[in-house]
Amino acid sequence: MTPVGGSEFKGKRVLLGITGSIAAYKGVELLRELTSRGATVTVCMTRAAREFVAPLTFEVLSGRGVLTDLFASPPEETAGLGPRETTSSVQHIEASAGADVVLIAPATANIIGKVASGIADDLLSSIVMAAKGKVVFAPAMNVRMWENPVVQENISRLRSLGYCFVEPDTGALACGEEGKGRLAPTERIVSEVEQLLRDRRTFSGTRVLVTAGRTEEPIDHVRYVSNRSSGKMGYALASAARDMGADVTLVSGRASVPPPSGVKLVSVRTAAEMRKEVMAAARKAAVVIMTAAVSDFAPARQEKGKIPRGSGELTLRLRGTRDILGELGKKKGKRFLVGFAVEVDEEIARAKTKLKKKNLDLIVVNNPLLEGAAFEGDTNIVSMIDRRGRVEKLPRLSKYEVAREVLKKILTLRK
Ligand code: CTP
Repeated sequence: MTPVGGSEFKGKRVLLGITGSIAAYKGVELLRELTSRGATVTVCMTRAAREFVAPLTFEVLSGRGVLTDLFASPPEETAGLGPRETTSSVQHIEASAGADVVLIAPATANIIGKVASGIADDLLSSIVMAAKGKVVFAPAMNVRMWENPVVQENISRLRSLGYCFVEPDTGALACGEEGKGRLAPTERIVSEVEQLLRDRRTFSGTRVLVTAGRTEEPIDHVRYVSNRSSGKMGYALASAARDMGADVTLVSGRASVPPPSGVKLVSVRTAAEMRKEVMAAARKAAVVIMTAAVSDFAPARQEKGKIPRGSGELTLRLRGTRDILGELGKKKGKRFLVGFAVEVDEEIARAKTKLKKKNLDLIVVNNPLLEGAAFEGDTNIVSMIDRRGRVEKLPRLSKYEVAREVLKKILTLRK
């Protein structure tokens, strides 16, 4: 146990969900660590978890009743987890509403699968479904279960929806096999959850506008001109800003992945629609991050219906669209403006020119020809350049990690 003063957990309410893994007993250590850091912890155990450890252990250590049954009335001590004005005896709603964090440790493949599929057939899965605060999973399972593509897809889906994961360790597993799947050490779980709580204060009260995706410029009613942007970088930025406590508006064109939850989503199709929505949302924003791949050209006119094949040849006349970021740069005010640029050569020099031309505070540039920075990928390799021309090159990182670095840079530069 580490007694910690000034911990992020002070005064926080944690719902600790224990599921049916052999690592369920490690929940005891977690409970003690969280409590010692000042959290009020209520434990919820699934039926399978109760096969491994008796609820009484957690009840004694937490000094609170353990939640087990969807249909039971709440134990006296846990009623306090919900907001005072709540008179509901609907346990999952009360418990979810009151928790700053729902931490599921150990989390089995089963609970991950249920949450990813929207199943709420017991108390813990119902609590997660109704959760207001952050939900964090610390998985523990056999290595083949962990590597199963279904489990990995569920995890990716949940991550994209804003759920967090504490990666399991690699080593000897309870089943006698070796590999990834051991519950992360208590210390790491607690410090990662603590970091999440700390993060939430970073941009608290700040309105951040993020644009993402690609625009589509119609040729006729069937065809359009567009580009290869997947929207992943912009969505990662919107998610990371949300996780850092920002009030996020996401103006998005078409993308290849589902948009993150917990942000105000404004969907657009064309560059002109994007311009209109961005201009409206920018009025209230303190930070504007423009990752959208806005079409630089659009067909000069949209034909009605479907253009017939005819002679087999067609000339399209394209007209330049308006530079949204450039326009924002002209009436910048106190807004912090961030641009993204895709360049295949002389990246830094070209990005510096763009930063000046558009009157930006920061520009993030990447070369899609590099391995790990390609379109549609889950990683990126970027350089960040500020107004004073200082360049910071980042290594290959997941798009979410790049997003966090960009946001941290914004925070430093705004100070
Ligand atoms: N951008 C914009 N409006 C446009 C085109 C681009 O706001 N019509 C924004 C992008 O979202 C990006 C930044 O401007 O943040 C740089 O985009 P990029 O396409 O690299 O720059 P362009 O000004 O279009 O220059 P070029 O295509 O000549 O490289």
